[in-house]
Amino acid sequence: MMKKNLILIGFMGAGKTSVGQALAGKLGWPLSDTDQMIENEAGMPIARIFEEKGEQAFREIETAVLKRLIQEADEAVISVGGGLPLREENRRLLDTLGQTVFLQVKPETVIARLAGDTTRPLLSGDHVEERVRELLVYRNPIYRDAAGITVDVDGKEVSRIAEEICREAGL
Ligand code: S3P
Repeated sequence: MMKKNLILIGFMGAGKTSVGQALAGKLGWPLSDTDQMIENEAGMPIARIFEEKGEQAFREIETAVLKRLIQEADEAVISVGGGLPLREENRRLLDTLGQTVFLQVKPETVIARLAGDTTRPLLSGDHVEERVRELLVYRNPIYRDAAGITVDVDGKEVSRIAEEICREAGL
């Protein structure tokens, strides 16, 4: 039987963490965050994992963490890193883990929210705006396919997004 978790996917800066917190509060469910789990496990921030071990190693840990959540989580809100749904294997694992919600965000919102951010290795360096746009064009169809529910987040309060998700998910 499918597990009763709510999983939030979407691009960096879409609000997966803050919406996850609001949903967890509303439903009285615990919140898990794959980035947080990976940082705890590795004992270092994600930027350093990328630097020292490379992105591929980070992606392997993401899959391992997802498998662990399938064993452990039920009636939980789970926020996953922006790149996690890109692996086909991970998309299959997400289907087993629960109901997936895509927080769809416009490039302008991401750019405004992540100005000055130093925690996301994929958006460090020059030409960040261009990179955000390119990555969104590539990733959005994948996110949409991976999710049963899509919610637009631009210009909306976190509480309203959480309400929309609960309504759409029948919770
Ligand atoms: C990534 C998103 C990040 C983090 C890592 C890679 C991505 O998570 O997992 O920096 O590939 O989109 P958030 O989406 O929580 O920022």
